[in-house]
Amino acid sequence: MAGIVVVGSQWGDEGKGKVTDYLSSKADIVVRYQGGNNAGHSIEFGGKKFALKLIPSGVFSGHQVILANGMVINPKALIEEMHYLNENGVSTDQILISDRAHVILPYHMEIDAFQETLRGKNNIGTTKKGIGPCYVDKYARIGIRMGEFVDETLFYERLKEVLALKKREYPELAFDAEAIFNEYKEYAAFLKPMVCDTAIVLDEAFQEGKTVLFEGAQGTMLDIDYGTYPFVTSSHPGATGVSEGTGIGPINITHSVGIIKAYTTRVGAGPFPTEFDDEIAHHIREAGHEYGTVTKRPRRIGWFDAVVVNQSRRMSSLTGMAIMLLDVLTGLDTIKICTAYRLDGKEIHGLPSTVKDIERCEPVYEEMPGWKEDITHVKSFEELPVNAKNYLNRISELVHCPIYLFSVGPDREQTVIVNEIMK
Ligand code: GDP
Ligand code: IMO
Ligand code: MG
Repeated sequence: MAGIVVVGSQWGDEGKGKVTDYLSSKADIVVRYQGGNNAGHSIEFGGKKFALKLIPSGVFSGHQVILANGMVINPKALIEEMHYLNENGVSTDQILISDRAHVILPYHMEIDAFQETLRGKNNIGTTKKGIGPCYVDKYARIGIRMGEFVDETLFYERLKEVLALKKREYPELAFDAEAIFNEYKEYAAFLKPMVCDTAIVLDEAFQEGKTVLFEGAQGTMLDIDYGTYPFVTSSHPGATGVSEGTGIGPINITHSVGIIKAYTTRVGAGPFPTEFDDEIAHHIREAGHEYGTVTKRPRRIGWFDAVVVNQSRRMSSLTGMAIMLLDVLTGLDTIKICTAYRLDGKEIHGLPSTVKDIERCEPVYEEMPGWKEDITHVKSFEELPVNAKNYLNRISELVHCPIYLFSVGPDREQTVIVNEIMK
């Protein structure tokens, strides 16, 4: 039995989709455990490109995929994604949805956009998919869960009850319970056969010695507790999210794979210590196609930050790393690595808790020579130019973590194993 978690270890968009797809051939079940369609996971193979938001990136393996209880699911977006896959010849028959997952309804998206407007220049830069407001309802104990949603009578009752509360809370917004019910009951009927207690399915899988792959969305720095709060998402993207987000215990996680860009990106607002914006940043943005999958916003660019990735290693007990988009750094004369921050004259190795202090942190850099050779066809660590090898080794040293694999292009084939995850 093995439980492998794929953890975004920076601010998201590290390449989780690619690694999940790559590893899914070895897994029996692939599970998403948090977040919703704020995620955008890209997968490329056989000349085809896919972008998934809700469905686990293991769907191409044909194995069972689960949308577990920690997720917030927009039913309309889910059905659209299923149709998109079906139209491209990918079966979605193996999807199961937790009866405990919370449902994102149109009022969540309206509230998300409204709150962003109210925040004005301090807006978070959310994806406006209703993620925060849906998790708020979960913890306020007024959310509608999949199990209720697919029971037409219960769904209607709960919707009326919740919207009565929302109208008092947001008198500026117009919510139409009848219109939502009439549209969404159709989606509920479509999804009903897939809804079940997925924790039982996972437990049975572990009992039978199967391998389960957990696909995180977002990244550690967007974690609700340990991210750059309040510029975060509303869930736990790391390995800590797996247990609460799936209903199985933490002991079932045997391997924790940190997904790490060879540099750093961030989309949306908030502090970003190693950010830079010059012609090199521009070059990296274009070479790495660094534009958001969901919102198409240009991603902000920064150097590799060992403080950030060490935090991910701590929080998710990383057992190894996947270093992604290494090819994007090809051609640079020198590459900077942030090894610590300087704050009030002292070197620190953890992120301060307040935005004010994070913004005052000065990255401590070391510089390494770059490489010019095309590495997109490299098939082994040994084939890499010596400076690329040194760069990977230095990252491993600074993060105190071995490298499982590195990636030299978006295609499934452009993946190089350094140490097998499951021997
Ligand atoms: P995720 O949200 O973590 O799944 O990452 P995204 O899919 O949002 O963003 C990663 C982007 O990098 C996607 O466009 C991938 O196709 C692409 N990508 C992944 N690995 C590599 C790589 O090694 N090299 C290059 N050039 N692109 C990559
Ligand atoms: P994947 O899974 C990058 C960011 C948003 C915003 C903040 C809060 O593709 O890595 P939210 O809509 O979640 O309330 O927005 O989080 N964000 C992401 N950034 N990749 C993601 O997902 C993200 N999901 C949310 O830009 O700054
Ligand atoms: Mg993404």
